[in-house]
Amino acid sequence: MDLDLIKDKAWQSMGTRHSHPDREPGYAYYHGQRVAKIGIQLRKLVFPDQSSYDDVIVVGSWFHDVGKGIEPHWEYGALICREILADLCPADTLEKIVEIVGSHTLRKAGHYPDYVKLVQDADILDHFGSQEIWLRFWHSAYRRRNVEDALRFQRDSYLPHISKVRQLLNFPQSIEFFDEKDRFVQEFMKRFAREAQGELCGE
Ligand SMILES: [Fe+2]
Repeated sequence: MDLDLIKDKAWQSMGTRHSHPDREPGYAYYHGQRVAKIGIQLRKLVFPDQSSYDDVIVVGSWFHDVGKGIEPHWEYGALICREILADLCPADTLEKIVEIVGSHTLRKAGHYPDYVKLVQDADILDHFGSQEIWLRFWHSAYRRRNVEDALRFQRDSYLPHISKVRQLLNFPQSIEFFDEKDRFVQEFMKRFAREAQGELCGE
């Protein structure tokens, strides 16, 4: 597979597209690029000797949200991806890539191969930590919500939300990274709450 050419195709289909009002234009492209890198890092940790499907993880991650904005986006995404990559991948590789796109949201809904489960986890992980804070600011700005609204979300909804998502992760290694991101966000939000009251933090 010519990964440079395939990456260009990903850029052409998502690089500047505004697929979701709560997210910036091009989000699906850059998110896909990050998910690929996270997916490979997880693969090296969870299955250190199984590098044979790394290209499948990379290309599947790049295109996993290509259908975003046309729901159910994983089903439309699988169709779009199959069309874009038809002449660019060997047939059996294309099937695996399409399988990633078509089932990346169906976590714990069935038995999936490792390359699907790794991308499912990488997809979740990219929405948390500092990316989560970025997404929350974007969401608040787009919805005209204020600091009090953001603090209320943290107080009332954050913990139930995070424990629900945590249960969807497939590998203990993913859970470790998820928990670290959770701690980071909780620390950040504690300080955000204090500074929102005009408190000077530090010495
Ligand atoms: Fe995603």
